[in-house]
Amino acid sequence: MKMKILAAIALLAMPVAALAEDAAGKLPAKDQYITSEGCKGCHIKEHTGWLRTFHSTAIQNPKYVPSAVKGDFTQPGLGFTLQEVDLTIGSHWTQRYMKKIDDDYYILPKSWSISSQRWENYNVWSWQKQPYSKYCIGCHVVRFDPADKSYVEHTIGCEACHGPGKGHADTGGNGRIVNPAKLGSVEMESICASCHVRGKDPSGQYSFPIGFTPGKNLADYYIPDKLKPGEGISDGIIRIFREWWGKAGDEEAMCSV
Ligand code: HEC
Ligand code: HEC
Ligand code: HEC
Ligand code: HEC
Repeated sequence: MKMKILAAIALLAMPVAALAEDAAGKLPAKDQYITSEGCKGCHIKEHTGWLRTFHSTAIQNPKYVPSAVKGDFTQPGLGFTLQEVDLTIGSHWTQRYMKKIDDDYYILPKSWSISSQRWENYNVWSWQKQPYSKYCIGCHVVRFDPADKSYVEHTIGCEACHGPGKGHADTGGNGRIVNPAKLGSVEMESICASCHVRGKDPSGQYSFPIGFTPGKNLADYYIPDKLKPGEGISDGIIRIFREWWGKAGDEEAMCSV
């Protein structure tokens, strides 16, 4: 009985602490994340569904997953080799290749078009001036922290859409986890829009939101590029996301297929 009451108090205390963190604009602690592998055992159906989506293959390491590489590296005159590729980015229409230099990644100057099966130039003169951690990473990983350029999982893992899952997993599924279907429409669409709408964080330094996690209103973390004159940030985000969804939307991009 005592145990139960203590557990209940702990549960009550948790959301309050989380709110205090939000007020400071901080991300949930790193150790609150368990990665997609951590969800798999209890949610094999969703994990299998997710594996079939491009979210699971957005970033891959060719040293562990050689089949991730779509480009034809036997073609002459490429200017870089497969051995230089530390990560692939993209898996549906276009694939780019990243090389680690010092503590950041850079996108090598040719892209492979998967649809037309050929190489295309990409930022040939400026590729070494555009670090992955400023221009790309926030939309291709889970929990990017600009303070130390760290992330908890490469690619769009479960927690990119569901938020940190440790409390939920440790209590056998009773703890707090975001179910997008139970959010209001602004918070629900904010999750997808945090990557599917182009913009800048309020400091203007990053091409993605900083500190946003599922359940929040993205308008507090992000300013879209294509706002109409006089349009509110939140309205703009939702409008731009819906325009994209109308063209490219696919329910099967989620996990419960
Ligand atoms: C953390 C960033 C992130 C979040 C959150 C996110 N996506 Fe994505 N999404 C991506 C990236 C990156 C790709 C491209 C992956 C690839 O092709 O390698 C993608 C691909 C897709 C695709 C396939 C598009 C195509 O043409 O191949 C659809 C559809 C999609 N996402 C829908 C959604 C929906 C709906 C949500 C919200 C429930 C969502 N995404 C949340 C980053 C994200
Ligand atoms: C604001 C979020 C965001 C940023 C920043 C971002 N991406 Fe993406 N990226 C996406 C989304 C979302 C998709 C899927 C788009 C779609 O299908 O319409 C995507 C798709 C891609 C694809 C094609 C995937 C495919 O399968 O065809 C590549 C390659 C890619 N991104 C590389 C990059 C690189 C390199 C950078 C940095 C220079 C970058 N992205 C910055 C969100 C982002
Ligand atoms: C791109 C965003 C996205 C990713 C990535 C994602 N989910 Fe989901 N998930 C959703 C959305 C949206 C819903 C609610 C709507 C639905 O059921 O499709 C959902 C629903 C769920 C549910 C509730 C299903 C039910 O029957 O009510 C579970 C469990 C779940 N996801 C687990 C996972 C796991 C585990 C992973 C990783 C292997 C994952 N999700 C990855 C977006 C995502
Ligand atoms: C120890 C087992 C376990 C682990 C690990 C686990 N879950 Fe769950 N999860 C459950 C159970 C049990 C439920 C309740 C199922 C039901 O009601 O049908 C649940 C429910 C959910 C729901 C629906 C919640 C709601 O309010 O509707 C989502 C979303 C979800 N899990 C996502 C995840 C994600 C994402 C991860 C990994 C970060 C994860 N789970 C890890 C056991 C687990």
